[in-house]
Amino acid sequence: MYRTHTCGELRIDHVGNEVTLSGWVQRLRRLGGMTFIDLRDRYGITQLVLDEKAPGDLKKNVDGLGREFVIQVKGVVLERQSKNPKMDTGDVEIDIRSLKTLSPSLVPPFTIQTDTDGGDELRMKYRYLDLRRKVVRENLVLRSKMAIAIRNYLDSQNFIETETPVLIKSTPEGARDFVVPSRMSPGEFYALPQSPQQLKQLLMVAGFDRYYQIVKCFRDEDLRADRQPEFTQIDCEMSFAEQADVLNTFEGLTKHLFKAIKGIELTEEFPRIPYAEAMEKYGSDKPDIRFGMLFNDITKLVQNRDFNVFNTAEYVVAVCAENCAGYSRKQLDALTNFVKKPQIGARGLVYMKYNEDGSYKSSVDKFYTEEDLKSWAEACNAKPGDLLLILSGEKEKTQNQMGELRLEMARQLGLRDKNTFKPLWVVDFPLLEWDEETQRFYAMHHPFTSPKPEDIPLLDTDPGKVNANAYDLVINGVEIGGGSVRIFESGLQAKMFKLLGFTPEQAEAQFGFLMNAFKYGAPPHAGIAFGFDRLVSLFAGLDSIRDVIAFPKNNSGRDVMMDAPSPVSDEQLTELALQIKLPEAK
Ligand code: AMO
Repeated sequence: MYRTHTCGELRIDHVGNEVTLSGWVQRLRRLGGMTFIDLRDRYGITQLVLDEKAPGDLKKNVDGLGREFVIQVKGVVLERQSKNPKMDTGDVEIDIRSLKTLSPSLVPPFTIQTDTDGGDELRMKYRYLDLRRKVVRENLVLRSKMAIAIRNYLDSQNFIETETPVLIKSTPEGARDFVVPSRMSPGEFYALPQSPQQLKQLLMVAGFDRYYQIVKCFRDEDLRADRQPEFTQIDCEMSFAEQADVLNTFEGLTKHLFKAIKGIELTEEFPRIPYAEAMEKYGSDKPDIRFGMLFNDITKLVQNRDFNVFNTAEYVVAVCAENCAGYSRKQLDALTNFVKKPQIGARGLVYMKYNEDGSYKSSVDKFYTEEDLKSWAEACNAKPGDLLLILSGEKEKTQNQMGELRLEMARQLGLRDKNTFKPLWVVDFPLLEWDEETQRFYAMHHPFTSPKPEDIPLLDTDPGKVNANAYDLVINGVEIGGGSVRIFESGLQAKMFKLLGFTPEQAEAQFGFLMNAFKYGAPPHAGIAFGFDRLVSLFAGLDSIRDVIAFPKNNSGRDVMMDAPSPVSDEQLTELALQIKLPEAK
C-alpha cells in the first residue's frame, strides 16, 4: 500500500496512529538539528519531521531529498508544538520512521506554490508542473463538478447524451475549419467540427427529441482571452420546441448550476432584451448589466450649433459617470487615449462636468451655451457631481466605441464585481449581416437559423431587415451561449442558402444530406450551445478561459509543451498525397 491516508486528511484525532503517506516534497527546512518537510498531494499538505536523534541512514535519506521528489513515508502522528491554524492538517505532524524515494526530481523551473515565480510561457511549457499548483488545479476540479451537475440536470430533463463524429465534412460558413487530410481518399479532407450543429439537427429528424453533448469544437480563428482553437460546448437540441421552451430549460440549467456549485439562488427571471435595444442602450450585443451607465442619444440636442464634429455626425451618444465630475485633466486624457486606441478607433472624446456647485464645464463649451449643456445633463439624468462622456460619428461604430468606454469606466469605478452575477437573454438578432467587402449577406448566427415567421415575406424584398428567432445567454458581459429556432422545412432552407449566395448545386453539394433529411418528416426544433470553458471561468472569477483548460494553447494557437503544430515526415506527406509549398518570405 502506497498510503493509508492522503496529505490532507490527518487531524488531532489521529495522534498516535501509525500512518503511511505518499506525495511530493514541497519544501524542506532545517531548524537546529530537526528537518521539516512539507509533503503535498492533491488533497493538501502535511508536515513531516525528522528528529536529530533519528538513525543515520534515515538522516542520509532525507538529506538526499530535493523539491518535487516523490516520496513514501511511514511515521507516527504527533500533536504539533506550534499549531498552524491556516492548514487543515496544521494541528499535527508526522514523526518520520522510514522514508523511500519513489521518484527523484530535477530542480523545477519555477516554484510550485500559489504565488509562483514562473512566467506565462514557462508555466505553459511545463503545464504538468503548473497543474500541481492548488490554484490551477482547483479550476479543473470546479470544471469537473460543473460537468457532473450539468449532466445530472439535463438527464433529469430527459436529454440523451449522444456522441457525434469528430471527422466531418468541411462547410464554408462560420469560422475557418481545421482540416484533416485523408489517406484513403487522396486529395480529400475531413474537417473538425466547429460545432455539431447539423448532426444534432439530424438527431432531431431521427426522433431523439432531446439531445445534449459536452463536446469539443474546433475553430481556426484569431484567439483572445475568451477564445481557444479547441474549446468545449454544452451542446443541446430540442424537438417540438419554440424559443420560450429553450430559454426556460436553459435558464433552469443556469440557475441549477449557480445553486449547486456556488450556493447562489437566482430567483428572478432573466431579462430578455432585443438585440436592437441592447445596441441602443449598451452598445453591445453582450451587455454587462451589473451597472447602469446607459446610453443617451443626444444627437438632436447637440446639432445646429458651431461644432462641426457633432453637426456632421450621424449619431452622438453620452453616458453619465456618477460622481466623476472631479476627474482630473490626466484622468480625462487617459480616457481619451483609451478611446483613440486602434482597437477602439474613436477620433476623440468630449466630456462635460456637471460640477457639485451646479456649474457646467465642457471640453467644447465655446460652441455651446449654458442652456445647451444643461439640456445634455437633463437628457442623461445627471446630478451635480456627475461626468458626461460623449462620442460621435457613424452610428454602429460609435455604439461599439461607447460600449468599450462604458466597460472601461465601470472597471475604473469598481462596478464589475466578480461576485455579482447578472444574466440576461439577448433575443431577436438580425438574421443576416451584409459584408461590404464581399458584397453579400452572411448568416449572423448560422444558415440553419429560422427567420421570425412574420418577417419571412421580407426575405424577398428587404433581407437585411429580417429578424431571427435567435438568442444569446449573456452573463456579466460574457456571451455564455447562443442558439436559435431552426428552419425545418427544405424549401425555406433552400431559400436561405440562395440568399447566402449558394447556387442550388453548391447548396446540394455542401448541405444536401440535411436538406434531404428534411424531406423525411423533420420535427420543428430549436437548440442552444453554451461555451463550457467560458462558463467555468466565469464561475471561477477568472479573466481567461485558458486557466480552466488542462492543456490550453497559447495566443498563437501553439501547444508549447508538446510543440504542436509541427512538421510531419516526408513519408506521411507522400502517403497523404500532399506537398508543402510555403509562402515566400516577405
Ligand atoms: P456559437 O457559435 O454561438 O453557436 O457558439 C456557442 C458558444 O460557444 C462559445 N464559443 C467559444 N468558446 C471558446 N472559444 C471559442 N473559440 C468559442 N467560440 C464559441 C461561446 C458561444 O456562445 N451551433 C451553434 C449553437 C446552436 O445554434 O445551437 C454554435 O456553435 O460561449
